[in-house]
Order: sequence, then C-alpha cells, then structure tokens
Amino acid sequence: MRPSFASRRDDVMQSYIMSLIEVARRPGMISFATGLPDRRLFDPAGIEAAAEKVLESGEAADALQYGATAGYMPLREKIADRCNRVMGMSVTAEDVFITNGSQECFDHLGKLFLDRGDGIAVENPGYLGALQSFSVYAPEFMPVDMEQGGPDMSQLETVFAKAPKLFYCIPNHQNPSGTSYSEDARRAVAELADRGSTLVVEDDAYGELGYHGRVGRTIASMTGNAVLTGSVSKIISPGMRVGWMVVPEWMREAVSTSLEAACLHAGSFVQRVLDAFLEDHDLDAYLRPIRAEYARKCRLFTDLLADGMPDTMSWTVPDGGMFVLLRSPEGTDADPVFRTCMERGLVVMPGKPFHIRGGANTVRLNFATASDEEIEKGMGILCKVCREIF
Ligand SMILES: Cc1ncc(COP(=O)(O)O)c(C=O)c1O
Repeated sequence: MRPSFASRRDDVMQSYIMSLIEVARRPGMISFATGLPDRRLFDPAGIEAAAEKVLESGEAADALQYGATAGYMPLREKIADRCNRVMGMSVTAEDVFITNGSQECFDHLGKLFLDRGDGIAVENPGYLGALQSFSVYAPEFMPVDMEQGGPDMSQLETVFAKAPKLFYCIPNHQNPSGTSYSEDARRAVAELADRGSTLVVEDDAYGELGYHGRVGRTIASMTGNAVLTGSVSKIISPGMRVGWMVVPEWMREAVSTSLEAACLHAGSFVQRVLDAFLEDHDLDAYLRPIRAEYARKCRLFTDLLADGMPDTMSWTVPDGGMFVLLRSPEGTDADPVFRTCMERGLVVMPGKPFHIRGGANTVRLNFATASDEEIEKGMGILCKVCREIF
C-alpha cells in the first residue's frame, strides 16, 4: 500500500504555467503564453565572462562551497544600494535575503504568516504562481478587483478592515494585466498598511522593465509594513534562479530560519556569477536596450491587435513588462479562444486562473517570448479566432 499524501496536498491550487511551457516547446508552436523573457536578449557571453572571473579568482573554492543563509554579501549590498538609490527605500544589506527566484519568497512568507483560514488580500486578477504558492497554506483569499491605476480602493478598504495577514500586490506592470498603480494608489496602500496589521508583499518582478525607466515609488519606501520581492529573472536570466526579499528588521531572524530550514541557502556559485556580472555592467545602461526592445515589441503587438481584433474585444496597453490582458465581451467565455488557437498552432493563456472571482472572459498574452515573425503569424491566428467567435 502507498503512504497517503498530507492533506495539504489537496490544498495546492493548479497552475497551468509549467505545463503550458511544455506545450509551447512543441515544434512549430507559437507561444503568447507563459512569462518567458525574450531569449534573444540574454547575454551568454557576459555570463560566461562573469563565471570565468569567479572561477579564476582566488575565491573559486568559496564559490563552490556552502555559503551564508541570507546570501552572498556583496550581492546583497548591490541590491540594497539599488533599493536606496532608485526605489527610494532606506534599507541595509542585512535586510536583503537571496532566494531561489522570487517565487520562493511567497512560500516563505506563506509559511511564516498564514495559518489555515487566515486572510490574504490579493489583486483580482493577480499572479497565478503566487496564488498557487500561498494556496499551500490554505488561506482565505480576499480578492480586490484591479482597475486601470491600481486596486479598487473601496474594495481594498473593506478588505483591509478585516485585517488580512498579507496583501500581495504587483504595483509595476502587473502580471497578468500589464497595468501599474498610480501614485495615489501606492500612497493609499501604504497608509492602509501603516494603520493596520497587514503586511504588504510588494512584488517587483517587472519593476525594472518600465519602457521609459521605473515608474512610481515603491510602496515599501512609504511604509515599514512591507516586504519587497525582486528578481533578475525578467532582466538577466530566469534560469539562474536568483531572487530576493527585502524585509523589515523585525522579520530578519524569522526569514533566516525559514530559509535555512528549507534550503540552507540559495546557490553560492550563481550568486557570485551574478555579482561579478553586475560588477562589470552598469545596470541602467544594460537595461536601456532591453527596455527599448520590449517597448518596440509591445507596440508591434498592440498595433496588430488594433488592426485585427473585432470591435467587441478590448485589451490593456502596458507601459512596461511583458503582458497584455485581452477581454471578450462581459458575460462571454474566452476559453474557446484558448482551445481553437491551440488547434491552430498558437498557445495563449486563459485569464480565468489568474482570478479568484470572474475573469472567464479574459486571455493573458505575452508579447516578449515570440519573435517578430511569430508575433505576426500568431496574431493572424488569434485575431481570426476572435473574429470567428465574438
Ligand atoms: C509577477 C511575478 N512575480 C514573481 C515571479 C517569479 O519569478 P522568479 O521566481 O523567476 O523570480 C513571476 C514569474 O513569472 C511573476 O510573473
């Protein structure tokens, strides 16, 4: 007889993310699904040079050895410095904890704060991968609908009045909608966090991908009741799996213990390679062509949407990041779009799983992964399917 799984196993939400990555890899498939950055923007030569530097330095053995739980100090210092210089925060390297991608942060934060049934306020729609991660702890998800410039404020106030443990949000270039919070929305969230006992989890995964530079102040710069999560996945490499969280001082010890218990520490070697890469590159100069390229692809993508979609469809137009959220008319179901596109060689991502409520009429589109040629071909399929269905 097989041993039975813990009951927790049944609490974990399904996420289509990794399975769609597999489908998108099939030969001939075009993908507007997943959150993969444009592989043409990776810098393998730069990473190779950084790795060589690490291995040829007198500290090669340290790079291959176990490291400190919180991460490689020079890298933590660089992250703290950027938080202070560019994001208006006031932190030290001791507040920065390196993780295996920022995805791992959500698991630690769930583990540290969420007992079964505890409230967590989330954007509706919000990032499916984080919802899945928090779902392990069987919290009560409290959805707050997203509007053009951030969350619906009256809903947010009502939800904060119930004192959720966490509010998970993506103020910059949100996944899946691509929208960003207005200054007023950021300030309002910070004020609500200051007034109550809710910890804001500010996910900055796309923060460096504003097409004209960073937008808005971080919420973590306005309240002490916030954790900022960050990552190099969308700007340097997701395969390196380097992310971080920047936490208030009172959380340091708890986070350290949680990290140690889970994995001892994130990979020492890759942290040092990243540190050497950042040593050799001015990050703003490095980001300039990447931001410009995503801006160009976004324009190409949204121009094609404007040319080919029926009047019944609408979509978001982002000022950063990788996503457009497509909507069919209210009350309709966009699932046939997903299925029909798949039959015709295009993978898109249904928008419903990103929602705690509603969202059946949405499709998430990533314009970063595909080449121009694929975008044009894929958009031909998508627009035709939408014209046939709506
Ligand atoms: C909004 C958001 N946050 C976090 C992540 C996790 O990224 P990583 O673990 O690669 O840092 C993703 C990945 O797609 C994302 O879209």
